Amino acid sequence: MPDADFIFALCNPGSERALKLEVAAMCLPWKSSYQRRGFVSFKLEEGIQEDSLIKQIACARRLCRSVGKYGSRAEAASVLEGDGVKHVQYARYHLKKMEGMDEGQPDPEVGDLVGTVVQLAGKEFWAGTHQHADGLSPDPAGDGGIELPEDAPSRAWLKLEEAVRFWGLDFSPGDIAIELGCSPGGVVHALLNYGVSVIGVDPARMDKVVAAKAVERREELGPDGPAFYHCRKPAALVSKRDLGEGVRWFLSDMNQSPEVTLKECARIVTMAPSIRHVLITLKLGELEAVERKADWIRSLGELGFTDVRLQQLAVHNREFALLGLR
Ligand SMILES: C[S@@+](CC[C@H](N)C(=O)[O-])C[C@H]1O[C@@H](n2cnc3c(N)ncnc32)[C@H](O)[C@@H]1O
Repeated sequence: MPDADFIFALCNPGSERALKLEVAAMCLPWKSSYQRRGFVSFKLEEGIQEDSLIKQIACARRLCRSVGKYGSRAEAASVLEGDGVKHVQYARYHLKKMEGMDEGQPDPEVGDLVGTVVQLAGKEFWAGTHQHADGLSPDPAGDGGIELPEDAPSRAWLKLEEAVRFWGLDFSPGDIAIELGCSPGGVVHALLNYGVSVIGVDPARMDKVVAAKAVERREELGPDGPAFYHCRKPAALVSKRDLGEGVRWFLSDMNQSPEVTLKECARIVTMAPSIRHVLITLKLGELEAVERKADWIRSLGELGFTDVRLQQLAVHNREFALLGLR
């Protein structure tokens, strides 16, 4: 029997409390109910509405209408298959992670009804459904399952690639990006592989993989393939001259508070009006600071970014990705 008014959220283990605080801060009439590591269910006082499962809840990687709890994976899957579900995806709490299981399924199309079977313990399987929509991850449990290649200078490579996968981001070869906090170079390495040239801002040194593609002067970033210019100074000292013309992407991954990061973002985006996309890793002392998310989203809104999303990705610890498009 379906759990009429219950939904469940899949999140990073350890983010359950922040998720509930975030829901409360959004004034959603959702009452938290059963909870395990990486899994929080809510009873929706007003019933499940059309937009309930596409609410932008940063701590939830997936929201599902709860269909119920079952004793085996096969039983849960067969209930979903009889329920008009087009794709059944699988997830589990395993090794302290809420992980999606890649079983070679095709990605869902927008509008497809997707089922999720999530294993929380030996014989505890929950089944739920959601409709795939723009802005939702195509992957089981919102986990791209991407692995860090050996030559990646840092785990930041993984954070960028997970964001690309979660939101379906597109980089065009020939684009120019600026990244604040670029050392040792995981993000720069990924961007260069997408054909994007990067102005990297950081007083610290770069990994040799990236240093090998460095040019001496900003003016040398051009049409001859992707290259890297190291602007070796703190973000606050970046000038219009360092930026030059035609920067399309702003990225930031500094060990700074959201307020400092967003202040630097505003300064750079104002100096470079050609910037169309912003992707920021916001580092939080405490995850519960997500209660302040409306302020962060508003700061990008004030800069003209109309589509702003905040998301904790499967590879994040005490951090979130903030995306803005204009
Ligand atoms: C997490 S690491 C960045 C990882 C990097 N994005 C990568 O892809 O490997 C944080 C970096 O932020 C830099 N940082 C901190 N404050 C900064 C500031 N005010 N301006 C520029 N860089 C800063 C640090 O030097 C450090 O290298």
